[in-house]
Amino acid sequence: MLTFLRKTKPTKKELYSAVETWAHARGQVASDHPSWSAIQKHFLDEGRFITMQNEFASDPDRFRRFHVKKQLSDPELSNYLLLDYSKNLINDETMRKLLEFARASGLESMRDKMFRGDKINFTENRAVLHVALRNRSNRSIEVDGKDVMPDVTSVLAHMKDFSEKVRSGAVKGQTGKTFKHVVNIGIGGSDLGPVMVTQALAPYCHERLKLHFVSNIDGTHLAEVLKAVNLEETLFVVASKTFTTAETITNASSAKKALLDDFSSRGIAAGGCIAKHFIALSTNSKAVTEFGIDGNNMFEFWDWVGGRYSLWSSIGMSIAIAIGMDNFEMLLSGAHEMDKHFCEAPLESNMPVIMALLGIWYNNMFGAQTHMILPYDQYLVRFAAYFQQGDMESNGKFITRNGTRVACSTGPIILGEPGTGSQHSFFQLIHQGTKLIPCDFVGCMLSHNPVANNLHHKMLMANYFAQTEALMKGKTEEEVRTELSKTNKLSPGAIDQIAPHKVFEGNRPTNSIIVKKMTPFSLGALISMYEMKIFTQGVLWNINSFDQWGVELGKALASVILPELKPSQNISSHDASTNSLIALFNSALAEAKL
Ligand code: F6P
Repeated sequence: MLTFLRKTKPTKKELYSAVETWAHARGQVASDHPSWSAIQKHFLDEGRFITMQNEFASDPDRFRRFHVKKQLSDPELSNYLLLDYSKNLINDETMRKLLEFARASGLESMRDKMFRGDKINFTENRAVLHVALRNRSNRSIEVDGKDVMPDVTSVLAHMKDFSEKVRSGAVKGQTGKTFKHVVNIGIGGSDLGPVMVTQALAPYCHERLKLHFVSNIDGTHLAEVLKAVNLEETLFVVASKTFTTAETITNASSAKKALLDDFSSRGIAAGGCIAKHFIALSTNSKAVTEFGIDGNNMFEFWDWVGGRYSLWSSIGMSIAIAIGMDNFEMLLSGAHEMDKHFCEAPLESNMPVIMALLGIWYNNMFGAQTHMILPYDQYLVRFAAYFQQGDMESNGKFITRNGTRVACSTGPIILGEPGTGSQHSFFQLIHQGTKLIPCDFVGCMLSHNPVANNLHHKMLMANYFAQTEALMKGKTEEEVRTELSKTNKLSPGAIDQIAPHKVFEGNRPTNSIIVKKMTPFSLGALISMYEMKIFTQGVLWNINSFDQWGVELGKALASVILPELKPSQNISSHDASTNSLIALFNSALAEAKL
């Protein structure tokens, strides 16, 4: 702080912001290790005064030094995944300090524990082995002394057999019609992964088969999907790890009733129709059988697969049906290639590790609360939503692995929407707001739809590049004044009035993440990169990224209130607000005779 005051003559605003970041960074204790205090010292002395424009100006080699390009063994084309992190508030020393901290925090040993099947999710006494689901090597992975790979391989074979039959039309519904609609009923990880991937890989989807997703307990979700399908041609995929999640079981029961009612109203014999129209993806065979789904139609997975990491398991069935098993296996292979990179690449060029460290730099030093994921690819419309669960359910924790309260800020708020639409809605805040919001720009060099001789894609990517450049460079008042005096016939007084509003401070950090083309393989690698970033941050904050007790609480609270929702019933067991809202709901029930 003193160095800053001595070296520069800060404006009042600069001084406030320097004091703010100083206080924030000083208060963050992610670790007692000296490497953490070294980061803080570097930040206070130097890091927070880094100006990207100066760094670029003084180092023409900055892009080369601060990017990683990973060639992918994608059989579809010569593909790659690139992370350009040069537009960040960092210099060599920043990266050195952050990497020292990563090494000192036992990241490598925790990573090895995860990959060998240790029960690192200690609050649930479970291994964390979604990486086994996409283990394309012949390495065995053991849980409780048993190699899990034969079971993984056998479920993949079961999925292949079934998905191919749905795609070819070999399996049929009750009345002998081939399936045209697949309705995935699930929530959280049993919904978001299949939704995100089937949309991301829409160009690979089977033409005859239309995918639908029902997740919300709001009856509207199911009702609207049921309106859009012919039940004779519909396969319901009930996706639930536990098979006890209220939303999913209620939606599946209502779907079952709708099918039976529809068939009986049209005089179609319903006997055995559940076996033909319903399959289950679950770890809970007892509950699946009780629900009435045939044991042969259950596709198993295991408690060592976390819900938010389950798209790689049989929860990926709707993906396999949509894009075909060969493409599903490419997705797994792409993820496996990134897993290998995460395990083998030196930390200096390890993409997930770099992303994680940058996130910690902004979160814990600059006090950034939010992280944006901005896909410049319409097919990735649900990518940010997917990682809202992936990141916030994993790292939204305030208790360390030792059971004490954390002494630093942990998981960021994840937000995002595709560009260019987002530019016309919330980008204003990123450019000129008072908050520092690091952003990931995710895009592809080649489009699946080179509409109008590729003009659309060129315009899309021109926006991508321009936004990251503008966020870095900003626009000074001098530039604004020159612009205004050239383009508008404004009086000097009017220029004085308008100029401050058109200033962009710039120096706002972005990662540019690019695949050459979005294929099943490159998407797999991209998802795994984010998963491993989240893992790394969890280790560095010393939290358990694999449980979700906060979500379990919501489930319990709703089940207390549900029996209280009865026409005209008065409830007094809650606070005044909750009692009154329940009373209003109950009077609406009475009025509508529901
Ligand atoms: O919302 C909490 C959660 O446990 C998620 O982690 C999970 O993805 C989701 O519920 C669905 O759970 P299940 O697959 O057991 O229905």
